[in-house]
Amino acid sequence: MIPFRLVPALVLLAACDMSPAEEDTDPVAVINQCSPELTVPGVLGEIDEDRPVQSHEDTFGSEQADPMHVRYNWPGRDPSTQAAFLWRTDLETLATVVEYGTDGDLDQRVEGGSFRFGGAASGDGDHRIHEVKLCEGLEPDTTYSYRVGGEGHWSPTYTFTTPGAPGSFESFRFAMVGDSRGAYETWGTVLELIDAHDPNFIIFSGDAVEAGPNQEEWDAWFEASGDIFASTAVVPAHGNHEFLSSNYFAQFSLGNNEQWYSVEYGSLHLVNLNDTVASPEHRSEDQVEFMNEVWAETPDSWKMANQHQSIYATCTNHGSNLDVREMWEPVFDSHEVDVVVAGHNHIYERSLPIRNGAAVDEADGTLYLVTGGAGAPLYNNTSDEWFGDIANPIEHYIIADVTADKIDFVVRDLSNNIIDEFSKTRR
Ligand SMILES: [Fe+2]
Repeated sequence: MIPFRLVPALVLLAACDMSPAEEDTDPVAVINQCSPELTVPGVLGEIDEDRPVQSHEDTFGSEQADPMHVRYNWPGRDPSTQAAFLWRTDLETLATVVEYGTDGDLDQRVEGGSFRFGGAASGDGDHRIHEVKLCEGLEPDTTYSYRVGGEGHWSPTYTFTTPGAPGSFESFRFAMVGDSRGAYETWGTVLELIDAHDPNFIIFSGDAVEAGPNQEEWDAWFEASGDIFASTAVVPAHGNHEFLSSNYFAQFSLGNNEQWYSVEYGSLHLVNLNDTVASPEHRSEDQVEFMNEVWAETPDSWKMANQHQSIYATCTNHGSNLDVREMWEPVFDSHEVDVVVAGHNHIYERSLPIRNGAAVDEADGTLYLVTGGAGAPLYNNTSDEWFGDIANPIEHYIIADVTADKIDFVVRDLSNNIIDEFSKTRR
């Protein structure tokens, strides 16, 4: 099944690069694929040439050699065959090994790399992340066990389960939540409540932290998550409070350029977008082109977008981002996107079904959800906007159950009272 053992990941992963011939025959398929290289993210997500990736050595520091904040990520579009693993140690620890396998065995071994990255606060401003990417080779619908670290300094053994192949229509469950910034005790509570529903993954709509360059906040964010992210992938959108910082890009291994990327989880093609960009054309051109290209490949799938700044919100603090609405709503309409989730507004909201700037029947429109209630100070809303259906300024989380024909959504507050419940049929 996995045709390798004891092979350095950097060498191994180079083998899954697309050949020019493949690019010629299937130009779209190279977009948003898992990049086999391990790169050091700098500010704006650009590669930091001054901080090389250090490949595996049997070197352990004395302060924090044991892996902490272990997370399972999706480094490309296909989580049925791809996975990435990240964890933190002290600066001196260089060993970067993952052992994994099926049926509880750990009979596969792959080595990755680690990198230093900067940022504000936290001691000398240098931090180390270890990353191992598997760009191919996992089997769909399979539970794997794994541990990370190195000899004498292994993490506990965790498990993760790959979904069915892209386009398959098995039922699954996901959660949605956003805007935890600054409130990590509440964030921990929300995550525990979410975890009790055993979702297959968690969509995060941005603003995890108050200040993206502050690694201490990221450490608090992951500390509050316990070991949930070791088995349940989080799929984030970049929020304005992340500030396009190297610390944001260092925390996750995501597809494409990590600012905008898509994930095909069975029947769902989820595009994650960045509306806080370094250059205007990233919103007006690049992400429009990206959405048009990737969604055109999967006309029969469920289609969702995850972004930070709501384009339909009745919240009185930020409300709707009209610039982004003008650029992206026509794209959502043309691909008949079922649901767009965002945050930024610290509130729960559900719009009427909307198409082309007007309310339409449920089966013909996009639902715009706002989930910004994971701990950040709550805002209020107005009832004056035509598109608002439900709004509730309360801390909350959303659970979604996906089948071939419909998605059932249940929204709960932190006492687990149901505050909204609705279904969406596939367009
Ligand atoms: Fe925000």
